[in-house]
Amino acid sequence: MSVEQTLVLLKPDTVARRLCGEILSRFERKGLNVVKLQMFGITPELARIHYAEHVGKPFYPDLEKYITSGSVIAIVLEGDEAISVVRKMIGATNGITAEAGTIRGDFSMSNRQNLVHASDNNVSAKREIELFFPEKNTQ
Ligand code: CMP
Repeated sequence: MSVEQTLVLLKPDTVARRLCGEILSRFERKGLNVVKLQMFGITPELARIHYAEHVGKPFYPDLEKYITSGSVIAIVLEGDEAISVVRKMIGATNGITAEAGTIRGDFSMSNRQNLVHASDNNVSAKREIELFFPEKNTQ
């Protein structure tokens, strides 16, 4: 068992639907610690870096439109096995097929407007945390 950090984005539909508190409280009640949190407006340039693996896919233009359509809240969560724990809690990509009891299963009916993003492995967690919360160079 190892303590991990993972990046979660509460996407524009979460902010617009006023579900930030509901979703953040699920993570807190589970026992995960919030170690960083900030509201951002994602630019198309940042979207293309964050979603680099999806650029070029047929759904990417609509994904970029969606993720840049309003504010997001970026959160770093920490805890034992946090990456897989959070992925389990958010559920499958498509809200229609996501299990009831997961965040997407309970609150989304869409495979694009699915409320949350969470890092899917160690490498992407490190990359995504650094992208949204770059270490300040103190020299
Ligand atoms: P996320 O977990 O943030 O990772 C990529 C995002 O692209 C995903 O959530 C959805 O918002 C979106 N997405 C993934 N697959 C599709 C799809 N087939 N059609 C539309 N949007 C998608």
